[in-house]
Amino acid sequence: MSTLVFYSEFDSFEEWSALLAPHLPGVTICRAETVQHPDEVHYALAWKPPRGFFAPWRNLRLLVNLGAGVDSLVGRDDLPDIPIVRLSDPDMARMMAGYVLFAVLRYARDIPAFERAQREQRWHYLHPRPPSAIRVGVLGLGELGAYAAQELARQGFDVRGWSRSQKALAGIRCHSGLGSLNDFLSQSDILVTMLPLTPQTTGLLSAERLAHLPPGAAFINVSRGAIVDQAALTQALRAGQIAQATLDVFDREPLPPDDPLWGMENVLITPHLASVALPASAAAQVAENIRRAARGEPVTNQVFPERGY
Ligand code: GLV
Repeated sequence: MSTLVFYSEFDSFEEWSALLAPHLPGVTICRAETVQHPDEVHYALAWKPPRGFFAPWRNLRLLVNLGAGVDSLVGRDDLPDIPIVRLSDPDMARMMAGYVLFAVLRYARDIPAFERAQREQRWHYLHPRPPSAIRVGVLGLGELGAYAAQELARQGFDVRGWSRSQKALAGIRCHSGLGSLNDFLSQSDILVTMLPLTPQTTGLLSAERLAHLPPGAAFINVSRGAIVDQAALTQALRAGQIAQATLDVFDREPLPPDDPLWGMENVLITPHLASVALPASAAAQVAENIRRAARGEPVTNQVFPERGY
């Protein structure tokens, strides 16, 4: 017999177990506190499990990260030495692209100015700009970044992408390497941060780098807060050097109640939900990886802790 142990503070155990069970006959699916035979726990499906979570499961064979980003796992020192896989789900990428599109269009169509004008009962005509006149820079062209960049290109924006290694994407001007980053920033009227958090990307958008954005740029972060120096971002937003920001992620989450970002009119805050794990579409791939691990076959969407993603 095998057991799959589940942990998440955000995702529904009932939903995941109901969808996984038909794919995994012979596997008991339960929460950590109801495990009967710890030595039979061969698989874990977990999002941000607490420290020490893995210690009782000495025969773990596969860890499935219940999300796309693995930064909260790969950095820790209590991980078992077993393959780790992450979700790689086109529906999750589409959900993320939907949020990015919303945030970019909101700036491209001057919606914050109209929201303000309406509060003041003011008819405020601003002639719409064509999307081709707006340069959108997407930082990070992994599965999620590439999908969002292509959706933006479909809307007619002038889309550029930046990644660590060179990518080729139809309709996107792709740049790569740290040497080109400042130039890339200086040509992004709207910057969308979609990089994974790794030792190389932590603090990448420092005060000095943010200063390369064109004056009045808009800033969108949907990946991880720690990629940007949040104090420097707050300062740039206060000074108007960055005119607007949509922030779904923060260096500390939940964002503390006394953080100055809460009170800023030019900032839209959402609580880290731009995209979430979708059981209906991802359960089949989770089950397939578990069956592969059970048969001793290579798994898909494996994470490489030394690389950080
Ligand atoms: C959410 O932030 C995820 O990484 O899945």
